[in-house]
Amino acid sequence: PSALRVALLGCGVVGTQVARLLIEQADDLASRVGARLDLVGIAVRDITAPRDAIIDPALLTEDARALVERADIVIEVIGGIEPARTLLLHAIASGASVVTANKALLAEDGPTLYRAADEAGVDVYYEAAVAGAIPIVRPIRESLTGDRIQRVLGIVNGTTNYVLDQMTTHGLAFDEAVAQAQELGYAEADPTADVEGFDAAAKAAILASLAFHTRVTISDVQREGITKITADDVAWAKQTGHVIKLLAICEATEAGVSARVHPALVPLDHPLAGVRGAFNAVFIEAEAAGELMFYGRGAGGAPTASAVLGDVVSVARHRVLGGKGPAESHYAGLPIAAPATS
Ligand code: HSE
Repeated sequence: PSALRVALLGCGVVGTQVARLLIEQADDLASRVGARLDLVGIAVRDITAPRDAIIDPALLTEDARALVERADIVIEVIGGIEPARTLLLHAIASGASVVTANKALLAEDGPTLYRAADEAGVDVYYEAAVAGAIPIVRPIRESLTGDRIQRVLGIVNGTTNYVLDQMTTHGLAFDEAVAQAQELGYAEADPTADVEGFDAAAKAAILASLAFHTRVTISDVQREGITKITADDVAWAKQTGHVIKLLAICEATEAGVSARVHPALVPLDHPLAGVRGAFNAVFIEAEAAGELMFYGRGAGGAPTASAVLGDVVSVARHRVLGGKGPAESHYAGLPIAAPATS
């Protein structure tokens, strides 16, 4: 094909940046793909809501279902389980390749999408679902797949890392640090998903599934957030040569694959201890590769859009050149350790 039709579902902070890159980098993207990527529509809940000037109002539609039916590639940045799941399954059934940033959906029901995609012979790519701009899904899924990963330690939630960092550096109380994170636009008005560890737990489920070639869902992840961490805890950690970080920890244990999210004491000389502010990092221990660390911006419109566009180019190339990415419906079926009750 000389052009591929791209549909965008969602036009919030990330969606707007995705649209901007598709428009502004159209020539570069075309040369990398070997076909033009034509943005044919943007599905939104309310067509009358105010938008960035880059968004051509003529592209907007409230009929997401009809839009996905006329696309070769569907980009989903709506978030949440429904209507995202139904729309993506419909897109796949209609023969479209899918790029999604939706960690909640993948952590709850990813295998349903992967199976449908395998049956339809299309791709589901989701680099942006874990740690925003940081390339981490592809390295685990592809680069490290000949190795044996032993452990994954991640700072995968920027809001909580910012909060803990402010408490550590400036001695702020938890509530003060959360208020600052909200002012800076890191934390939502309702910061529950971040501070209670739900967001990190979804990412932990995805990382553990990839690292251990199995299916870990969010309900398999033991989770404790940072709401009980006090200024005293942080000061005590400092005195003993540690820093408190909210870690996603995925490892293969004798009881099975274990994934958990909880505040942890990280020694100051560990690479994760130096991850400041709202940054994310993922530290991997693999049998042959040894230790690896991936670091960068885990949130925000443009960084997340960077990961989305990378996926779009990959799936577009597969459509132009034939072939498809790694299949994920074929799991080794390793047992999942029951989450310890906390
Ligand atoms: N709220 C998340 C964070 C960003 O603070 O890292 C999106 O996953």
